[in-house]
Amino acid sequence: MTPRMKIEIVTLFPDYFDSVISQSIIARGQNKRLFEIRIIDLREYTLDKHRTADDKPFGGGGGMVLKVEPLAACLRDLGYERTSREGEKIILTSAAGKTFTQPIAVTCSLCTRLTVICGHYLGVDERLLSLFEIDEVSIGDYVLTGGEPAAAVILDAVTRLIPGVLGNFESALTDSHVEIGLGPPVYTRPEEYKDLRVPDELLSGNHREIERFRRLQALKKTYNNRPELLERLDLDDSDKEYLKTLEKKDNENK
Ligand code: ADE
Repeated sequence: MTPRMKIEIVTLFPDYFDSVISQSIIARGQNKRLFEIRIIDLREYTLDKHRTADDKPFGGGGGMVLKVEPLAACLRDLGYERTSREGEKIILTSAAGKTFTQPIAVTCSLCTRLTVICGHYLGVDERLLSLFEIDEVSIGDYVLTGGEPAAAVILDAVTRLIPGVLGNFESALTDSHVEIGLGPPVYTRPEEYKDLRVPDELLSGNHREIERFRRLQALKKTYNNRPELLERLDLDDSDKEYLKTLEKKDNENK
């Protein structure tokens, strides 16, 4: 049986991924042939005996730039041409990329093939982006020493969305960012710990009450931690009413 999705990771540090791909959910997904991961050593595509993959930037300044030839040779060897085929996507990890979000993870999870190039040093020679259709992606507004941790994050966020990977797919549907901004707070046993009780609503057994409680609590978390997300949400009148009460409380405490 061919796997539903092929994932390739192009890196100067293939060993980095040993533990990443043996991690339980990713290993299980591979064993079930839901996807297949290939780690590709970029140095295999270098042209000189020192296996040089980087060089100094034209125009001066510190740092090194990943050379275009090995990367282009690697992508061509993988069968990529100027435009990608439907269902195929190339991502380059870069601090200068578009921010990786849950909708991008969903788009990637629907691909039949995803190739992630781990950027390094100052970045890659920009001409690579003229030769292939490549999406530059950043996992957040901070600078990593290399793209490997970013590729591991992308791999995790994408593979868990492939049907059959998670034991309980329903949990992926209630993830933060999927429905109503951030996810609601969650609790498990015991019902009481050092005078701290699990909210009565969650113990009520009343499904509608639980859903309503979770929605408002998720709104509250979004309001407190990521207020800029509120504008994008589809809020009904009672959500708006609830947010007004939060704002009012905030103003009273100022
Ligand atoms: N490489 C360096 N910093 C990065 C970031 N924030 N996201 C993706 N790749 C990176």
